[in-house]
Amino acid sequence: MNYRHAFHAGNFADCMKHALLVWLLRMLTRKPTPIRVLDVHAGIGAYDLSGPEAVRTGEWHEGIARLLALNSGPLVDYLDVVRAAGAPRCYPGSPAIARALLRPIDTLVLNELHPEDHATLKRAFKGVAVHQRDAYECARALTPFPERRGLLLLDPPFEQGDEFARLAEGMATVWQRARGHVQAAWYPIKNMAPVIQFHQALRDAGLRDVVAAELWLREPTDATRLNGCGLVVVNPPWGFEAEGGAILAALSERLSDGEAGAGWRMHRVADE
Ligand SMILES: C[S@@+](CC[C@H](N)C(=O)[O-])C[C@H]1O[C@@H](n2cnc3c(N)ncnc32)[C@H](O)[C@@H]1O
Repeated sequence: MNYRHAFHAGNFADCMKHALLVWLLRMLTRKPTPIRVLDVHAGIGAYDLSGPEAVRTGEWHEGIARLLALNSGPLVDYLDVVRAAGAPRCYPGSPAIARALLRPIDTLVLNELHPEDHATLKRAFKGVAVHQRDAYECARALTPFPERRGLLLLDPPFEQGDEFARLAEGMATVWQRARGHVQAAWYPIKNMAPVIQFHQALRDAGLRDVVAAELWLREPTDATRLNGCGLVVVNPPWGFEAEGGAILAALSERLSDGEAGAGWRMHRVADE
């Protein structure tokens, strides 16, 4: 396990994932019944953007730094959450975002396998269940949720060559156990071939009502570069395609540098 999210916090991929996560959590917490959020690749929860890791890569300068001055439009809800968490000094990870948006009736459950990051997360999230297990084993073991409603967030580091296949298999297992749960899974877009295969694997496993939100900073043809990323959502709340699309368009406008092939799409992977 070499991946440490502290090097990448607040980059364009985090902005995309977290802007859509904020929207998903807002929708899920509209109904008065409780929800559960299970974040199985949680990281350390929040990130110091003046720390040595963030300074070393500077990735957040091409991500959240380009958005923070915005005060209107589809990104404002996400940006208000990020600003309230202390940006630009501190950037909230998915656990901090979930903790900020959940109500007292809701439950947050976190999981992180890396020993040091798990210890940091546990210290920062007192009163929250923080597991240290393999993400896919954890997702299987902790679904269906007792509340019968909620969100599973899968955000693997893609360090292993077979991560797309493991992700599809993990999502299919949860689908079998908890058909109504919302699942959101982040993935990198370098070139399109593995993405097309991943979407096909989800269809082959029988998943229904799946939508992929995707953003590219440049044409995704170079398999050695992170050219874009996607968030595939199972059972997306109503309005995801339209409102998530507006979020992607706003991100694309601010985060792309006008390179050829930059863009975004909302793509239905499997029908309802
Ligand atoms: C992309 S980061 C997560 C970022 C976080 N979700 C956020 O948005 O703030 C992926 C995390 O997964 C952890 N990880 C890697 N392999 C894992 C596994 N098999 N099970 C659980 N966690 C794992 C890594 O240590 C890393 O902290």
